[in-house]
Amino acid sequence: MALGGMFRNAAAIYLHLVGPFRGKKSGASLARVEFVKLASEADVVNLGQGFPDFPPPDFAVEAFQHAVSGDFMLNQYTKAFGYPPLTKILASFFGKLLGQDIDPLKNVLVTVGAYGALFTAFQALVDEGDEVIIIEPFFDCYEPMTLMAGGRPVFVSLKPSRNQDGELDSSSNWQLDPTELASKFTSRTKALILNTPNNPLGKVFSRAELELVASLCQQHDVVCITDEVYQWLVYDGWQHVSIANLPGMWERTLTIGSAGKTFSATGWKAAVAQSFEREQLHFGQPSSYFVQLPRAMQRCRDHMIQSLQSVGLRPVIPQGSYFLITDISEFKSKMPNLPGAADEPYDRRFVKWMIKNKGLMAIPVSIFYSVKDRPGGGKTSPSLPRPPAGVGRGDESTLQAMDERLQKWKDELRP
Ligand SMILES: Cc1ncc(COP(=O)(O)O)c(C=O)c1O
Repeated sequence: MALGGMFRNAAAIYLHLVGPFRGKKSGASLARVEFVKLASEADVVNLGQGFPDFPPPDFAVEAFQHAVSGDFMLNQYTKAFGYPPLTKILASFFGKLLGQDIDPLKNVLVTVGAYGALFTAFQALVDEGDEVIIIEPFFDCYEPMTLMAGGRPVFVSLKPSRNQDGELDSSSNWQLDPTELASKFTSRTKALILNTPNNPLGKVFSRAELELVASLCQQHDVVCITDEVYQWLVYDGWQHVSIANLPGMWERTLTIGSAGKTFSATGWKAAVAQSFEREQLHFGQPSSYFVQLPRAMQRCRDHMIQSLQSVGLRPVIPQGSYFLITDISEFKSKMPNLPGAADEPYDRRFVKWMIKNKGLMAIPVSIFYSVKDRPGGGKTSPSLPRPPAGVGRGDESTLQAMDERLQKWKDELRP
């Protein structure tokens, strides 16, 4: 379990230090960064980056203000494994949720964001030559983090099952092939990295799928690193299941959460203890942020699905997370020759074209694959923008701006 620590800047300093050595070890870079840069250079509605464009809840902002203006000792070193009131409330909150007895001093580690937790987990658990199973499409840092630890990434894809014509696809139709998954486990497999709800697909793994993963991990004595940063963003009544809770998995699972995602404050990581304390009091009730946030995000998701459909995009309905991906194969058949290098995947060329000509930015899904032409690599992945009233307080500027641009696009499509 890991949540953001107090000092976000420590991450920047740390990355700066490892920067010069990074390429030497893995040669990997994050293509996502290229598209974020492109979007910042033009008048573009950025649908591609997974963070909220609405304020955090009032109780979190108040807790933050209290943390920085109250007891001066809060500005000084805390316990290396995490600020004790935070590790205590995490142990109590997640202990109740998972029905486990969690020791705040032994079972909880607070890191600088989930990124920090992932990096630490790979460095701690993966040794030279160890294999790490990564489920595609995957959050793009898993591959370089495996390589930096000296490990070898082994990929297995979620496969979309065929949908009847005219029906919208759902992320639940993307499934693991049990035989293929089993074939990826070898005597060198050290860890499997799971991400539910998934970035970029929004897939929420079912209990049966997790049972399959769990039984293979146990059979081959493999550690499961599970990235559950979007656990509170689950829609349509789907249930988030923590693999750590399945029989035989508690001892071999490292669960990663994110305070930034949980309380819609990805830029700062303080005041989390008080926010969880508040949530524990409201848990399961209509006043709970974990009830209000997914409801508002689901309304926003549904709005976005309709808007994207209006210009001929075919979104895959996400069960959870900030993200949704959309099928662009119709565009590929109509406009096969978009500008770009001959070996550049179509979805990257499409996004560059869309940024330049339509003022909309998304992240091409091919960057979430090891080999860039895998199934799904032809789809783009805009993230969900802000939810309407009820959670956020600001205006609905991203959704509105997206609608305006899509409406203009739609008008151009009219014969
Ligand atoms: C799947 C996934 N894991 C981890 C993170 C990083 O979370 P944090 O902001 O807490 O470092 C992200 C951020 O986009 C993510 O999408």
